[in-house]
Amino acid sequence: MVRQAHQGDIIVGLDVGTTKICTVVGELSEAGVEIHAVGTSASTGLRKGVVVNIESTVESIKNAVNEAKSLTGFEINTVYVGITGGHIKGFNSYGAVGVRGKEVTYMDVDRVIDSAKAVYVPLDREVLHVIPTGYILDGQNGIRDPVGMVGVRLEANVHIVTGAVTSVQNLLKCCEKAGLDVIDIVFEPLASAEAILTDDEKELGVAIVDIGGGTTDIILYKDGWLRHVSVLAIGGNHFTNDIAVGLRIPVSEAERLKKSFGSAATSMASDSEEIEIIQAGHERKVPRRCLLEIIQPRTEELLDLIKNELLSCSGYDIASSGMVFTGGGSLLNGLDRIAEVILGLPVRIGFPENIKRCEKSIHNPIYATGVGLVLYGFTTVSNRKFYHDTFAGIVGKMKGWVKEIFR
Ligand SMILES: Nc1ncnc2c1ncn2[C@@H]1O[C@H](COP(=O)(O)OP(=O)(O)OP(=O)(O)O)[C@@H](O)[C@H]1O
Ligand SMILES: [Mg+2]
Repeated sequence: MVRQAHQGDIIVGLDVGTTKICTVVGELSEAGVEIHAVGTSASTGLRKGVVVNIESTVESIKNAVNEAKSLTGFEINTVYVGITGGHIKGFNSYGAVGVRGKEVTYMDVDRVIDSAKAVYVPLDREVLHVIPTGYILDGQNGIRDPVGMVGVRLEANVHIVTGAVTSVQNLLKCCEKAGLDVIDIVFEPLASAEAILTDDEKELGVAIVDIGGGTTDIILYKDGWLRHVSVLAIGGNHFTNDIAVGLRIPVSEAERLKKSFGSAATSMASDSEEIEIIQAGHERKVPRRCLLEIIQPRTEELLDLIKNELLSCSGYDIASSGMVFTGGGSLLNGLDRIAEVILGLPVRIGFPENIKRCEKSIHNPIYATGVGLVLYGFTTVSNRKFYHDTFAGIVGKMKGWVKEIFR
């Protein structure tokens, strides 16, 4: 019998990345979330995290979903989909409501979040997330969950994440054409955070740096709350392209060399080391140091950009416990060590962890977003039992627009 993957005990995450699309199927059991399977497919229709070719993206989504279907035997119709790209921006907002000296209810929390949402957002942008970052009850701040407390005035600080309407619509359109119903669109590093961070890190203060193929996404947490989001339009593909140009080889060979022999700094190769380049059926040898001389400046450039971003958002005050690098780009040999030196903070690589059972192959930073989307889905489903608006996705509204525009 074909089982139905729906919103209850089975959740499917769809990570539409610049280099690969993956479908992660998770089930909530008594022990926790089990990941049943991951279907992957090469992605060719995105640039820097944004859909630029609908047809090829739809094809890749279908392939990734079909693989997951055949591995699990589940019918997959609904997904939580990830989004990224340089168009994503975040800003803080604030709302306040009266609670008339009674116990604060879930409805009051919905109302205060609603009032914090009442800010001007340009017509070409859509609100993706309104994330509470702290409640204040009668002047007392630092309240995590005001429900059940007694007070007169409830205030909420929120972080609002927005994206370009066209990019969001194109992503929804691809999912729709691939026969999928999108339950929610999630900014990718928020999903990754669910899979790789510990509660202690979120509490103490931490920065996630998700280095994908096309973008590097940065988010910061402190006191358990989200503090900042940003996206840099540079990722692992830029390293590969530099290698292809520098060594005059095809991109596929440059990618192989980067993964097999690449390192973040030239000091990581000895003078005598040589690597073999395969080009048009011929082999030639070059010193490994030549490869690292191309990679090192890109690494330094990326780390400098990350440092500037941290400096611009008080990131060094926020990320007291250090940084967690994830995404495929974090697998570059020695990157964590160089990052510690340049950024001056402890760095660890984030693998998907917060799951009970999974295949070994999923234990890879490239799956942090996909696994995180599943975990995000389960958390949202349980929160929605209490809150109507605060955890409601934007998708219902957007889907209507997609139908209108692409009719
Ligand atoms: N061992 C490795 N060493 C260096 N780079 C690697 C390694 N493995 C993967 N990468 C790089 O990681 C990148 C892909 O990472 P990932 O799968 O997280 O990206 P994505 O999700 O498809 O893209 P994005 O999130 O930017 O849309 C590629 O640029 C790839 O070359
Ligand atoms: Mg990614």
